[in-house]
Amino acid sequence: MKAIAVTPRQKDTVRLVEMDKPKVADIPNGRGVLVEVLRVGACGTDREINNGEYGVAPEGFDFLILGHENLGRVAEIGENVKEFAVGDFVVASVRRPGKSIYDLIGEQDMTTDDEYFERGISRLHGYMAEFYSESADWLVKIPPAIVEIAALLEPLSIIEKGISQAFETQERMKIWRPKTAAVFGTGTVGLLTALAFRLRNLEVHAFGKDKREGYFNADLLEEIGVTYDSTMEISTADSVKKYGEYDVIFECTGYSPIAFEAMQALNQNGVLILSSVTGGDRKIDQVPADKINQQFVLGNRLMFGTVNANRQHFEMGVKDLALSEAMYQGWLNKMLTHKVEGLENFGKLFDILNNAAANKAIKVYFEVNKI
Ligand code: BGC
Repeated sequence: MKAIAVTPRQKDTVRLVEMDKPKVADIPNGRGVLVEVLRVGACGTDREINNGEYGVAPEGFDFLILGHENLGRVAEIGENVKEFAVGDFVVASVRRPGKSIYDLIGEQDMTTDDEYFERGISRLHGYMAEFYSESADWLVKIPPAIVEIAALLEPLSIIEKGISQAFETQERMKIWRPKTAAVFGTGTVGLLTALAFRLRNLEVHAFGKDKREGYFNADLLEEIGVTYDSTMEISTADSVKKYGEYDVIFECTGYSPIAFEAMQALNQNGVLILSSVTGGDRKIDQVPADKINQQFVLGNRLMFGTVNANRQHFEMGVKDLALSEAMYQGWLNKMLTHKVEGLENFGKLFDILNNAAANKAIKVYFEVNKI
């Protein structure tokens, strides 16, 4: 079967490889599911892996099959799989258990292992292939009514984790009813985050680099009642003068200095969620350290980082995809801007991914097989 691979830690090595078709029997205890891949989305992580910045090959391989944003159809099941049937649509989660206590209790998204296992990213092959086999334990069923938008479930799961952990952590407050949210970053994750906050009925303000005029992502945001401001035109401090301090802020720009501005835009008792994996070594001067520290202390403010997602976050995401269709029908589909048919056209996919702004691309994805 065809698959798309890279040599991790080397720049621009993305290529087509030929692999054996996986088997249900590759997975122990009759729990295997063979999945025919339908769609695989590409994101900044895939771009960085192909840039040689990130990614680890599985043991015994000098290449890594890419792809973690996935949607597939069950082709075959093992004898101990009762929860799926042939023909079901499924999305697989990304991280698999390592050794830490969190991994052992199914919370591998909270692993304390330094070496972690993520399909398509770290030590495990991904989903940019015609088929994959996986344990039923790591698959989530997709209702046919939302299959068209289900390739967005994996990125949405990251947001579901961040937001649900914010609410869990805010139980320190006994009562926490956030009213306003800010989203820094308006790429795929930013748009999905703004949506998730709207589904929870918050007033949402989104901020991105691009000028408002002609920016399709901003059109989408405004369609669901989210304001858009360009950080080129308004500072974070001025945005607070305009909208007030935010009860919850989700940072997903990929630009770490914004985190320090966001810290100063948080309301009392508010929570700042950081989700950008910033691989560089940028340093900034002029951080008003005393002021930020004092505001955090005197205002009981909270900041935490979040990565990956476990099964429950994917399941929350399924519900939010369905709710989104009920509230804003057709909106998510507009995020699927660029479809590339066939894995052999990987050059085209990476070209769009590497020049996303010029292509006005939000989500670029492979259609490996038709739904
Ligand atoms: C993926 C996550 C993963 C993270 C860090 C993201 O692009 O969506 O599942 O944990 O990268 O590798």
